[in-house]
Amino acid sequence: MLIILAIIGLIVLGVAIYDVTQQRHAILRNFPVVGHFRYVLESFGPELRQYILTSNDEEKPFSRDERRWIYTSAYARDNTFGFGTDNAVDAAPDYLIIEQATFPHRPLVGEPSTPTWDFAVPCAKVLGGAHGRAEAFRPNSVVNVSGMSFGALSGAAIEALNRGAAAVGCYQNTGEGGISPHHLHGADLVFQIGTGYFGCRDASGAFSLDQLRTTIAGAPVRALEIKLSQGAKPGLGGLLPAAKVTPEIAAIRGIPVGEDCRSPNRHSAFDDVDGLIEFTERLADATGLPVGIKSAVGETGFWVDLADRMALTGGGPDFVNVDGGEGGTGAAPLVFADHVALPFLRAFPRVYRCFAERDLHEQVVFIGGGRLGLADRAAAAMALGCALVHVGREAMLAVGCIQAQRCHTGRCPTGVATQSKRLERGLHPDQKSVRAANYLATLRHELLRLARACGHDHPGLIRPDQLSLLDPGHPTTSLQTSVGYVDGWGLPSADDVAALRAAWPQPAGLPDR
Ligand SMILES: Cc1cc2nc3c(=O)[nH]c(=O)nc-3n(C[C@H](O)[C@H](O)[C@H](O)COP(=O)(O)O)c2cc1C
Repeated sequence: MLIILAIIGLIVLGVAIYDVTQQRHAILRNFPVVGHFRYVLESFGPELRQYILTSNDEEKPFSRDERRWIYTSAYARDNTFGFGTDNAVDAAPDYLIIEQATFPHRPLVGEPSTPTWDFAVPCAKVLGGAHGRAEAFRPNSVVNVSGMSFGALSGAAIEALNRGAAAVGCYQNTGEGGISPHHLHGADLVFQIGTGYFGCRDASGAFSLDQLRTTIAGAPVRALEIKLSQGAKPGLGGLLPAAKVTPEIAAIRGIPVGEDCRSPNRHSAFDDVDGLIEFTERLADATGLPVGIKSAVGETGFWVDLADRMALTGGGPDFVNVDGGEGGTGAAPLVFADHVALPFLRAFPRVYRCFAERDLHEQVVFIGGGRLGLADRAAAAMALGCALVHVGREAMLAVGCIQAQRCHTGRCPTGVATQSKRLERGLHPDQKSVRAANYLATLRHELLRLARACGHDHPGLIRPDQLSLLDPGHPTTSLQTSVGYVDGWGLPSADDVAALRAAWPQPAGLPDR
């Protein structure tokens, strides 16, 4: 008996040593031996759920199917599904359908049949081009990494995302926590200016242009983003719980160690729309960089005023990043996460319309976020007028997040949203940067395949009348009709299409707009 126990003990010890030293799975590194139960349960999951547990589409915010697609894409494994859809296609509200062309676009010259890191799908618009910013540029990739601060995410997660983004030609938005050494692994950066002005504040916490210049000097910052609000907690400001305020984070942000770090619910550098436009112009003049805003969507008046004043002054944001109310956060009160700000598919058209009615829609680069890291929703965002999509939690899933929803506790079991060195150890940037790159490349690849299915050679050319929203009991309505767009809205200008073609040579025969 003793011998059997000794053998079992040795086997368990061997497994534990293997788990702690391997680099592929964060859960096993952090929870040796017991972590295997997760994988065992996962492999029996479909059979168990068939009889007793939840369906593939019940879990939120990302269903089991959605997460499986992201995980298999991140591992560059077979991400296809068998037997056909198990979605309630005819019974679910707001169910998106993409109406394919009978004669799809042929594969592009040089287009790989599987996702490839270096086959980027460039943005159809130039960031800062319309306002003639000195550092205007065309983003290499229509898919990019959304702002998630160092603080909310671990250094290892930031590094993995940065290296993954660099590998596939994406940029990474820094989030509002400033620039850390973990951001400096090769990817272009968009520096976010939040209400706490972390990385660009003076001793009193006010915005400091000098500090901004110092922070971005030497970093590959390609654009600045003024964060007005975020979909998961608009009108509230930010909160980094004390458990996450380590000495390193405190130093980067210029705040005390171990205390809750709150950013105010509004900017102190400006008070109204004119002030926002002046601030934007001041930043652009001082740095030459394109400058944009990120905002969740509530009252319409702000957007009307902004578009009016931009039309009148000729200045203002080069890009507008609309974050859906279903977006993610490190920590937010339930009522804000659940009930404040419109979800993306209703929020974005409200904003776009304000600019389109003033003929400004072709001059502004629109960006979308809020569960857009899934190809159907990303395609809908692009059809509605987004030139770029940002992915936040989907990129977290790619680097190992298991949707434990513990970001606010500092005890994320996978080392993604924590500052615990013990848990962060599980996330190995060498391995996870490859997962991030695979996922980003796959989403881009799927978008291109959807575009071709719709008869186009670029996802920016998918028209809003090529998608429908199904609602049980109602006639099928095209997305264009349901959001009230007129023909031509949602598409890049003819000049932008011509410039895109020149920047990304394609076979002749780009379909007409
Ligand atoms: C852990 C975490 C931290 C975040 N930090 C920021 C931030 O610093 N600044 C910001 O503008 N948005 C932040 N966000 C919001 C994301 O950038 C994104 O807008 C939102 O999650 C919607 O995208 P998704 O659905 O792809 O996650 C954060 C989200 C998460 C999950």
